[in-house]
Amino acid sequence: MPALPVLNRDAVLAAVSPRAAIDVTRDAFVRHRRGEWTMPSKVYLDSPPHGDFRAMPARGGDLAILKWISSFPSNPARGLPTVIGLLVVSDATTSEPLALMDAGAVTALRTGAVAAVAADALAGGRSAGIVGSGLHGAWAARCLAAAGYGPGVCFDPDAARAEALAGELGWAAGSRAEALAQDVVCCVTPGHEIVVDAGDLHAGLHLNMLGADGPGKAEATVGAVASCALFCDEWAQASHGGELTGAVEAGVVKREQVTDLGAVLTGGAPGRAGPEAVTLFDSTGLAIQDLAVAAAALDAYRRGEVEAQVVEL
Ligand SMILES: NC(=O)c1ccc[n+]([C@@H]2O[C@H](COP(=O)([O-])OP(=O)(O)OC[C@H]3O[C@@H](n4cnc5c(N)ncnc54)[C@H](O)[C@@H]3O)[C@@H](O)[C@H]2O)c1
Repeated sequence: MPALPVLNRDAVLAAVSPRAAIDVTRDAFVRHRRGEWTMPSKVYLDSPPHGDFRAMPARGGDLAILKWISSFPSNPARGLPTVIGLLVVSDATTSEPLALMDAGAVTALRTGAVAAVAADALAGGRSAGIVGSGLHGAWAARCLAAAGYGPGVCFDPDAARAEALAGELGWAAGSRAEALAQDVVCCVTPGHEIVVDAGDLHAGLHLNMLGADGPGKAEATVGAVASCALFCDEWAQASHGGELTGAVEAGVVKREQVTDLGAVLTGGAPGRAGPEAVTLFDSTGLAIQDLAVAAAALDAYRRGEVEAQVVEL
């Protein structure tokens, strides 16, 4: 059995810059659309009343991965992060394990990256709004900034969080309405309460809905969702555990009204219809995004750019 490098959080974040994460994430959507990369839908394993585990495998290039990650909302009260997990990288030819990585860092990078990939494909303007300036809201903002979006307005009911993020990027902290008035708005809240109503939509707006990534979560009203030109990362996940789910269950949004981001990126479907259109991208989080970032991190380790502890199994 080979020795396995273990890339901790700092190593993953040092190995893959936001700009690099955006490029490999875009490439992952293209390869998946072309059938070169594959993944089943993620599997949820409830652990009531604490939260749930998610198992997310994917295969592409010469690698296969499994991300085993949690969403335990009660963890912060225990002094633990909500999201903790491991990512295993294996050789797709021999099945040998090649590396272990901190799944939280991979998730943060690929979640932020898809916000920029979707904006590049669908947005009309450059100003940015962040509704929910926590861990993943911050990475969405960093990736948008790395892709040339901004200046931006960060909102969070925890004002100190919004101010810290705005200060880091040279943006401003502001109200929910001010954040929603921007061209590209990322909603990255826990998904327990509505933050976008139909009345918040304005001509030219692009929404990245990132917070509703599991059953029972929503950040926009069904009316708001149904008023937008709709895009998603993957229909099976988005229609059952994403921002689109409420509108699909209410019968106001059907499969044919929703375009896959991969179809836009490969030129198979149009993106924004015009400058006045209001577009909404539903991100539920895909294992191919994790594979893309994990592969980039492993490459950087192999090039000697980052260090890792090595363990013998
Ligand atoms: N789509 C994906 O791929 C993906 C990936 C990772 C996490 N997520 C989801 O993103 C959400 C946020 O995760 P996180 O790790 O950043 O959590 P977090 O706790 O670090 O941040 C959430 C932030 O939202 C703020 N918030 C709460 N209610 C709000 C409201 N009404 N308006 C504005 N802000 C509000 C909180 O104060 C907090 O700062 C979760 O639902 C998580 O499951 C999605």
